[in-house]
Amino acid sequence: MLNEDICDTMIKMAKDARMKGYSPYSKIKVGACILASDGTLYGACNVENGSSSLSICAERAAIFKAISDGKQEFDAIAVVADTESPFVPCGGCLQVMAEFNVPEVVMGNLDGDIRVMKLEELAPFVKYMGINHVKERYEDHFSVFGELE
Ligand code: THU
Repeated sequence: MLNEDICDTMIKMAKDARMKGYSPYSKIKVGACILASDGTLYGACNVENGSSSLSICAERAAIFKAISDGKQEFDAIAVVADTESPFVPCGGCLQVMAEFNVPEVVMGNLDGDIRVMKLEELAPFVKYMGINHVKERYEDHFSVFGELE
């Protein structure tokens, strides 16, 4: 669960991860840290690519790292960049947070400003976007394939 100590640790891990950011094009380094519900923390940075649409944001890198390690339940995610006010995740990252029900978003900058908001405050309708609201139908679809095997 998110508390002040864990929040501080997450910001620190996000800052450490940020230092590893690969951003030769934008020159903007972003770091993130996700808290799995079992207490495990995963830090990650943004990784850019010369073909810009292949770049990945720090928040999604952190989520994918945790998913790849077998975690699918999350309590919070932190994100930090060198911005004037706490860094707000992009819409794509908010949608990926919605996919995995990441309930709280800790936003920070290098001056130590921190703002904590619920995902549903940042993006109240994000769970209805795309196919998110018809996930059950897709699950039926996949179960049909399951029966054929
Ligand atoms: N970026 C993130 O890491 N997170 C976001 O939420 C938005 C943007 C990265 C992507 C790119 O490497 C750089 O910031 C500039 O957009």
